[in-house]
Amino acid sequence: EVTSTFTQGLPKAELHVHIEGTLEPDLKLKLAQRNHVDIGQTTIEDVQKTYQYDDLASFLAVYYPAMNVLQTEQDFYDLAFAYLQRAAANHVRHVEIFFDPQAHTSRGIAFATVINGLYRATVDARALNIDARLIMCFLRDFSKESARQTLAEALPYKEKFIGIGLDSDEHNNPPLKFARQYEDAAAAGLHLTAHCDIDQKDSIEHIRQALEMMDVERLDHGTNIVEDPDLVDFAVRHQIGLTSCPLSNSFVSPEMKGQEVLALLEKGVKVSINSDDPAYFGGYIGDNYYALADQFALTKAQVVQLARNSFETSWISEDQKRLYL
Ligand code: ADE
Ligand code: ZN
Repeated sequence: EVTSTFTQGLPKAELHVHIEGTLEPDLKLKLAQRNHVDIGQTTIEDVQKTYQYDDLASFLAVYYPAMNVLQTEQDFYDLAFAYLQRAAANHVRHVEIFFDPQAHTSRGIAFATVINGLYRATVDARALNIDARLIMCFLRDFSKESARQTLAEALPYKEKFIGIGLDSDEHNNPPLKFARQYEDAAAAGLHLTAHCDIDQKDSIEHIRQALEMMDVERLDHGTNIVEDPDLVDFAVRHQIGLTSCPLSNSFVSPEMKGQEVLALLEKGVKVSINSDDPAYFGGYIGDNYYALADQFALTKAQVVQLARNSFETSWISEDQKRLYL
């Protein structure tokens, strides 16, 4: 039987966590005070009362305004280091952390402020026995011109992040909108992933574009792929990683998509379990493994396979992978 002690203690990699989604109510209030930003609430309970959402758009409407409390390089450091401490307690050995520069540059925070603070926390994470890397995401509901500008601003810092991703509101924002930025990022030696959120309009078409036309190495969420056997074959053949996030799913859909995860495991797709926005969706990575295992009666062997998949589809070197597998 799989216990929460087992899921917490299992060595694992986390491949789908948004650093802005790790902003806990207590740190939110502390930063609001430190930076004299009025967020409309003054107690943890009042902050938590605003956490009401039932789909991606209503979640994002709560998520973005809260970022106003992040102002200085130290704020970004504190945010990331707090997450990394929790990750260490969840026996995360390797993490690839998403950040959304446009959510900050669009409100006047310099790109350097964001990446330097986050990067310094990843360096200090070595003392926690975690290998931490950064993935820069484009906001897909912003223009491609904004993405182009963001990539141009980021490339001088390319030693500080390992890949690019695509997040925010997927509705009418297909991966191909950013084909040019993906090409340029790949040419700069960066890894590629993209969100294909669950149960979106055009889910399968978006997955097809990302896999067949843009050469992404992973799909974030992406579990709607089970509806298309040819794409499932493609994912198996190309060892595409799918980063599923059970607790996040249960907020924006009636279910955590356990049947889909199990079906994909069975077919040999490299699916992994992740936390997405743990401060908003009620749990860190160990809780996500446990919720899925508990609700869908996973065996220990299945849970171990999910953790193996997280290392296998991570972007660490093959040498480093051998240390974990
Ligand atoms: N930004 C943060 N979390 C996200 C998610 N689950 N989907 C899209 N954009 C996001
Ligand atoms: Zn996500």
